[in-house]
Amino acid sequence: MARQIFLFVIASFLWSCQTVNAPQSTAIDPVDHFAGYGKLSIVQAATSTTETFINVMGPRNRDYKFYVLLNGKPAGRVDVVEIVDPSPMLFKIYKLRVSELNPNTEYRLEVRIPYGDTIADYRTFKTFPAASPAVRFAVGSCFSDDFVFSHVREAIWQHMFEQNPDFILLNGDLVYVDTHDFVPREKATESDVWQRYIHSMEIIPLFHKERLIPVVATWDDHDYGTNDGNKNFAGKDFSRRAFRALFSSGDIKGVYENGAAGVYKSFSLSGQRFFLMDNRTFREPNGSAQVFAHWGKAQHSWLLEHLKSNDQPAWLVNGGQYFAPPIIVGSESNQPRQLNESLMADHPAHFRQLMKDLKESNAPVIFVSGDIHFSEILEVEATQLGYTTYEVTSSPIHSYLFRNKPGEPELWANPRRVVGAKDHNYILVESRVTPQGWEAEVKSYGVKRPEPLFAKKLVIKK
Ligand SMILES: [Fe+2]
Repeated sequence: MARQIFLFVIASFLWSCQTVNAPQSTAIDPVDHFAGYGKLSIVQAATSTTETFINVMGPRNRDYKFYVLLNGKPAGRVDVVEIVDPSPMLFKIYKLRVSELNPNTEYRLEVRIPYGDTIADYRTFKTFPAASPAVRFAVGSCFSDDFVFSHVREAIWQHMFEQNPDFILLNGDLVYVDTHDFVPREKATESDVWQRYIHSMEIIPLFHKERLIPVVATWDDHDYGTNDGNKNFAGKDFSRRAFRALFSSGDIKGVYENGAAGVYKSFSLSGQRFFLMDNRTFREPNGSAQVFAHWGKAQHSWLLEHLKSNDQPAWLVNGGQYFAPPIIVGSESNQPRQLNESLMADHPAHFRQLMKDLKESNAPVIFVSGDIHFSEILEVEATQLGYTTYEVTSSPIHSYLFRNKPGEPELWANPRRVVGAKDHNYILVESRVTPQGWEAEVKSYGVKRPEPLFAKKLVIKK
C-alpha cells in the first residue's frame, strides 16, 4: 500500500508539472476568425423613403439584438415585429421594421449577440430617394441550391449587384422544395418545406451580401411546394408560412400592400406600380374552364380595383407565362402531354376575362413572368388590349437548362417572340415615363460574356 501511495504522489507531481507547463490560455486569436458580414441569411423586403422591413434568419439559440447606425451613431428605430420559430428546425426568423429613416440614405444594420456584445453579422441598406425619374430593377426567377450550380451562383449574383438595381423583383422558384433528391412531388411535409427553404437561404449568395438590396417577391410552383401545383396541394399552408417569414413583410401605406390571402402584393416606386400575383394558392387544375381559374376571383378583383385607382403604368408579375401556347410532346408510344404552363394555355376563360378587363383600365401594363428556364420578350398585339405591349420572361438565374435534341428548336415555339436566350441569366430593366410614352430598356445578362444576351427598348403608348 505504501508503494502505491508513493507512486500516486509521484504521478500527481508529474501531472501537476505538465499542467503548469501547459499553455496558460486556450483563448482563440480573433484574427483567425472572420467576424464580418454574411453569417446570417438576411432579406431586405418592403422599403420606402423612410422605412424598411428586414428579415433575419439565424441560429435558434442566440438572442440577437439589432442596431441601426448612421455614420457610427444610432439612427432610426428598430422594432422586432415578429419572431418566427419553425421548431424543431435549428433556425429562427426575426422580422424587423426599421422606421424614422431619412430618404436616400445608407445605414448600417448590426446584429449582435449578448455574449461579449459580439457582432454576429452586419450589413448596409438604403432607403429610396424622395423622387426619381426612372426605376431600375432586376427581374429573376428559378435559382437552385443544388451543388451542380455552384460554378455560376456567386458570379451571377455579383454581376447583378454590380448593376446597382434599386430593387430585385423575384417571381418564383426561389426555393426548390420538391427536388427529387429530397422531397417527392405532392408529398412535402412541414419539416420538408422548412428544410428546403432553410438550405436555400444558407446557400444562395443574395442573402449573404454585405449590401442589402430590397427584394419584392412572389412564388411559383416549386417554392409553393410541388411541380405544377394548384389549390389542392396539401402542403400549401406550410410553404406560405415559410415564404411569408422570409420574403414578405408588413405593409407600408401607399407603397407596399399585401393581398388578403396567399402571397400576392403590390409595390410602387417612382410612379410605377408592380403587382405580384399568386398563381398557385387559388389555382384550379390546369384545363379548368372557370372564369377565375388562375388566380381566383378575389385576387383578380383586387388587381382590377387597384389598377383602376389611377392610370400609372403597371407591371403585372406572375410566376408562369401569360402568352405561351401549349407545347405538346408525345409519340406513338407515349401519350401526348403538355410540357409548359401558361395562363393562356391552362385557363383560357380567365385569360379572356383578364384581357377584357385590362382593356377597360386606363393604366398601361407590361406582363412579367418566369418559370420556363429561358428568357424572352413576347410582343402582345394591339388587338388584345388596344395598344401594343410586351411580356418579359426572365428565367433561370441558376437552374437546369433543358437542351434541345438535334433538329429541335432551342426555344419552344411562340409566334409572339421578339428575342430570346437560353442560359443562366437575369433581366435588368430601366424604365421611365416620358412625353413619348412609357419606356423600358430591357437587357438579359448572363456571366459567360460581358454584353447582354439580348437587349430591347420597349415603348408603350396608350
Ligand atoms: Fe424553375
